[in-house]
Parts: sequence; C-alpha cells; structure tokens
Amino acid sequence: MPTVPQFKTFRTEIAGVPVLDLAAKYGTPTFVYDAAKIVERIEDLRAFDVIRYAQKACSNLAILDLMRKNGVMVDAVSAWEIRRALAAGYGAKGEPAPLVYTADIFDHEALALCVEHGLHVNCGSPDMIAQLGEAAPGSEITLRINPGFGHGHSQKTNTGGQQSKHGIWHEQLHECLLIADQHGVRVTGLHMHIGSGTDLEHLAQVCGSMEKAALEVGRTITTISAGGGLPIPYNASQTYVDLDQYFELWNGVRKRLQDSFGHTVSLEIEPGRYLSAESGFLLAEIRAIKTMGENKFYVVDAGFNNLARPILYGSYHPMSIALASGETDERPHLDVVVGGPLCESGDIFTQEEGGFVGTRSLPAASIGDFLVIECAGAYGFVMGSNYNSKPLAAEVLIRDGQTHLIRERQTFENLIAGEHIPG
Ligand code: LLP
Repeated sequence: MPTVPQFKTFRTEIAGVPVLDLAAKYGTPTFVYDAAKIVERIEDLRAFDVIRYAQKACSNLAILDLMRKNGVMVDAVSAWEIRRALAAGYGAKGEPAPLVYTADIFDHEALALCVEHGLHVNCGSPDMIAQLGEAAPGSEITLRINPGFGHGHSQKTNTGGQQSKHGIWHEQLHECLLIADQHGVRVTGLHMHIGSGTDLEHLAQVCGSMEKAALEVGRTITTISAGGGLPIPYNASQTYVDLDQYFELWNGVRKRLQDSFGHTVSLEIEPGRYLSAESGFLLAEIRAIKTMGENKFYVVDAGFNNLARPILYGSYHPMSIALASGETDERPHLDVVVGGPLCESGDIFTQEEGGFVGTRSLPAASIGDFLVIECAGAYGFVMGSNYNSKPLAAEVLIRDGQTHLIRERQTFENLIAGEHIPG
C-alpha cells in the first residue's frame, strides 16, 4: 500500500518542472499530468491478471497511450470512448479483450460500433443482452450485476442498491441467463462495481456476492471483474485501501471458483481514480484578492468549468501556492476562500457538500502568483464544460522531465464551430 503523501501548501515545481516555466509556456488554466505517478499506480495493481482503466476518469489520447504501453486494458462507456480507445491504438479483439464496452444501455451508435468491431460487451441491463443477441448472435458477454448494495464517497457516486440505475439486479440473474440462451449469447464474465471512492469494508462485501453469482452462472464463467472504486487520499486524514488484503480477498474467490469450475478464472480490476487522480494538477493564476467582511478570497482563472468536483460533491482537493517571484521561502499562512471566475456563487473550490463555503490555510500570495489544485487527474478535465463560454483547458504531460502539450487550449473558433445563425 503506498504511503499517504505529505500535502504541502507551497510548491515550486511539478514532477521536477518549475511551475513558473509551465505557466509561462502553456498559460493557465492548464492540467498538468505526471506520467511517472500513473506508472507507479499501475505497478501497485500488477497482482491482478488484468488492469482495465476506466477511461472516463481521464481520457486524453496520450494518457490512454501511456496506459496501453504499460499493459493496461481499457473500458469504454460510450461510443466515443470506444473511438478514443481505438484512436489511442487499442485493438478491438484479443485475449483478454483489450477494450470492453460497459454500460446500462446501447445507444444506436454504440451498438453499431460494438457489432462492427466485435467488441466484448459488459451488459448492465437485460435489454442490452437481447439487443446485442439480435444484432450479433453468438457473442460472448459479461453481465454487470448490482449486488443490492453500494457505497461511494458521495451519494451521487454510489452505484449499487435499489436507488441505482446501474447493472442487472442480482435477483434477475437467472432471467438474464435465459435471455442470453434465447439469443445465442454466452455469459463468460461477471462484473460488479458498487461505487466510486469507496472503502475496503464495502469492497470486501462484493466478493461474497460475486462468488454466489458466479456459481449461479456456472462453468461458462472465465473472467470476474472487481470493478473500480479504489479511493485515494485527498488529504492527510484519508488513506489508501490495503491492496494486498484486497487482492487476497478476490484471489480467494477466484481460487474457489477455479476449483469448482475446473478451469482458470481471470481476475480483473477496473480503476479510474486510482490510476490517474494523483498524477493531475490544475494550474491556475490568482487574478484578484478581495475581502468580503471576514472572508478573504483568492479568485483564480480556473473555475468549475475546469474542475467540477467541489461544486458537485463538495470534494476536497489539496492546494498549493507557487510564487511568481520564484521565491522559495514559505510565507505565513492565512485562511482564504478560493474561487473561480464564473458568474455563479457556487464557483468555489473550498466548499463542502451542500455548497457551504469553507476556507483553506494557504500561504500569503499576490496577484500573478499561481494556485495548484492537486489530485485533479481523475474526473477533472473530462468533466469540464464551456460554461460562460470559457475554453476547455490545455493539458500537458510531463514524462522524464520533458513537457508535452497533449491538448491545445480550445480556441474561439473551436468553441463556436457548428453554431449557425439562421439567414
Ligand atoms: N467501472 C465502472 C463501471 C464505473 O462506473 C466507474 C466509475 C469506474 C469503473 C471507475 O471508478 P473509480 O475507480 O474511478 O472510482 N465523477 C465522480 C466519479 C464518478 C465515477 C463513475 N463511475 C467523481 O469525481 O468522484
């Protein structure tokens, strides 16, 4: 299990590159990713037979390429994530399947792509089984089971239980096997993902449900997937899951299934956050410092159009200050509210769930100094928007001390492309 990092509120560099150089070269707001951190996190999970990256967390082609070159398979949840994976060099077919489509529905485009490329599909509804069976009889599929319980860092990221639209209800497994039979489809895999940012206690419960479901399906099962959900520490009071213990729990299930089936069963894990969160930094510039009664605000040029997690879930992200002067001596701290430029009062990075504005102890700073929002590599850029007609941010990858622009900042022409004023 990795050691929880010491979160510092003052920094001069990111992955060995001076923050000032990054800001001068690429401007702000910019997402900066440290390739080495992604590789380190991949290595943590090598005990699993297949590490399948949930690309929804951070799907830039360069990130997918990095995953692929490090032997990580990929998951796609939409037609265009399928296209991204193919564009990043993932093959459609192979053993294990390099690319799996996981969803609760097929839109027409996704069904057509899955059939065209013969992709392995992880079906999250009985309807998907029937639709795929009609379009591609003879397919091998995985069933995503909702085990009847779930857990996440927020109610919005809990994907199990009756309140959730995800997966096939565990009591309908038999019915789904009949649907598969009727359509000449073979169930070779089972998958459970109970939520994002959960904990070992809840993750462990999934093992029991998986074993029961796999025994119900029987010997056609060759793969089980533990889903994603592994948490990362966003502050010093949080921790990682004990990965050895987690693996052993799943390995136990796998071994018992192998004994019962008489053939090998492959064990997959499907993380998003764990692989990319800690590699990402959102670099912003402080553009105004103002006082509202007792509150002091650092107002920066990044907002919830760049990082939506605080406004959506009240998520806490570590933050640090880099001084434009290049000074390396840490300054005295003060409690500040950190907000962005958007014309909505919820555009605050230091908020708690429910929208309650909080403060953060950060070094004294001036206009032109930089704010670095950390652990922003998962569900950061990908949840960005053009609200207030702000361009999508640039993305930069640091690999072996070199910086690479992996996404240009959106231009005004990109932004209005496809809009038409009727003549
Ligand atoms: N597999 C499936 C089927 C999923 O739905 C997800 C996440 C994952 C894997 C990866 O979960 P992870 O390992 O990243 O926890 N926007 C939210 C997170 C939403 C997660 C959605 N599904 C956030 O910013 O926390």
